[in-house]
Amino acid sequence: MTYVITQPCVDLKDRACIDECPVDCIYEGPRKMYINPDECVDCGACEPVCPVEAIFYEDSLPDEWSGYLTADRDVFAATGAPGGASTTDPLPRDHPIVEGEPVKAG
Ligand code: F3S
Ligand code: F3S
Repeated sequence: MTYVITQPCVDLKDRACIDECPVDCIYEGPRKMYINPDECVDCGACEPVCPVEAIFYEDSLPDEWSGYLTADRDVFAATGAPGGASTTDPLPRDHPIVEGEPVKAG
């Protein structure tokens, strides 16, 4: 199981979640942050600090954003476990689900 970052994060990336994560498993993409499901220890510390309520436990994902579970898994399927977000370059591109989201104004 894992936590998942969903659509409200797109084009916002508040970053409050990063400071809470004890295992450094929240990685940056161009338009959204991504939780590596293989590194997340389900501590739940990130979920309440997101100001736009973008973070959900995977069993509690709203239906409209269920595709984000796949998004956060898929972006790491290609790279493997990078071994810590703070020592890793940002992800080169977003998942197609994120790339397909309309750009949010300002
Ligand atoms: Fe996972 Fe969030 Fe904790 S990403 S390890 S539940 S801070
Ligand atoms: Fe995004 Fe919320 Fe974290 S907007 S960067 S999931 S605090």
